[in-house]
Amino acid sequence: MIKAITGTKDTLPSEINKWYLLENLVKKIFSCYNYKEIRTPVFEETALFCRGIGTSTDIVSKEMYTFIDRRETSLTLKPEMTASVVRSFIENAMDKKQSLNKLFYISPMFRQERPQAGRFRQFHQFGAEALGSNDPLLDAEMIIMAYNIISNIGLKNLEVKINSLGVPESREKYKTELRKFLAGKEAGLSEDSKKRIDTNILRIFDSKDENDQKIMADAPLLINHLDDESIAHFEKVKKVLDSLKIPYTVDPKLVRGLDYYTNTTFEIISGSVGSQSALCGGGRYNLLVEQLGGGAIPGIGFAAGIERILLACENENVLNLPEEKIDVYVVRLDKELDAEAYLLAESLRKENLQVEVDYLLRSVKAQMREANRLNAKYALFFGGEEYSSGEAVLKNMSEGTEEKINIKDSLSIISKIQR
Ligand code: HAM
Repeated sequence: MIKAITGTKDTLPSEINKWYLLENLVKKIFSCYNYKEIRTPVFEETALFCRGIGTSTDIVSKEMYTFIDRRETSLTLKPEMTASVVRSFIENAMDKKQSLNKLFYISPMFRQERPQAGRFRQFHQFGAEALGSNDPLLDAEMIIMAYNIISNIGLKNLEVKINSLGVPESREKYKTELRKFLAGKEAGLSEDSKKRIDTNILRIFDSKDENDQKIMADAPLLINHLDDESIAHFEKVKKVLDSLKIPYTVDPKLVRGLDYYTNTTFEIISGSVGSQSALCGGGRYNLLVEQLGGGAIPGIGFAAGIERILLACENENVLNLPEEKIDVYVVRLDKELDAEAYLLAESLRKENLQVEVDYLLRSVKAQMREANRLNAKYALFFGGEEYSSGEAVLKNMSEGTEEKINIKDSLSIISKIQR
């Protein structure tokens, strides 16, 4: 038997309403902030992600689904959206049409990570990117939007962490400091962290290894080595968050796993989902547009993992949906009248009622069982004696009451059902 690929998963009809609810909430909140939806292809040229995310990151060096197509072009299934959005922003000269572009997306992403609870190889993100302004207000807006969506769902056990990575000049100076600090301590570090000293030294702060963490506990922190402008920018972001009473903490060790960040970074962590606890992450990327061939245009964004949010909802017992119901179940009393019964069902569906008919030639008893299973509000008995006088029996399933209705007059049936 062929099964779904490890790390991928079907979303079954029994789960889909939670997705709809979440997606509708996401769209509603983004539209309150005037973000417009963008959709980009599922695959891009591999070079986009190498240049955008950084070749030394885990995503690019270990996790991408990359393949060569029939034209010998290297393509990659998108592991994240920021690079794709920036590519589209440049290609479509969006900055020529308006100076600030506020975009959002809901899309599948692909990363070949080790699957575990809350970590998949195909997963879904919703997120936003704002291109064209370096105003710290926009940094605050991103954090507030992400927080509003996640807390609006009803999730409680949340922690908002923020940090500033400053600009590359001060960061490079700081990296030299960090290298000096680690000189002589390399032997105590894990193999991964040893490699990172040369490739991606900041990521050593992210290591889960206990010895690494002990060593890094005394390491100098980037936040104490920022330039004045970055400090002022970060202070303004914090001031706006304070005034809106967003419960955040500054985490100087929050470094994020993608290379494009400058200044503000943030994550929202859930205490309800185990080790894959980041529900969303984001930050400013003021150099990315230029790095990908566009102008000197600043940007900021975030993305949130839908599967992780739904897992947190399950664990916190929120996002419970009302039981599904249908409006009418048409019970067929006479097999000969199947076309007529179907015609009536169609006329009701045209008026936006949810209607089901028996397609399995079941007994009346079995059809009623099905009507109950589907939580039908009404059962419409079609056929029998009533049919010859142009009528059918409409049964209110919760009250048990029955009345005769004229089958030619679908509008009056509808008004009875919608009462
Ligand atoms: P990221 O931190 O790599 O950032 O991913 C954002 C969120 O996607 C994570 O917090 C997590 O909820 C979810 N996620 C990531 N990997 C997986 C996985 N394997 N399985 C399930 N969920 C996952 C980005 O992707 C950046 N593009 C965010 C951004 C936008 N920064 C600026 N703009």
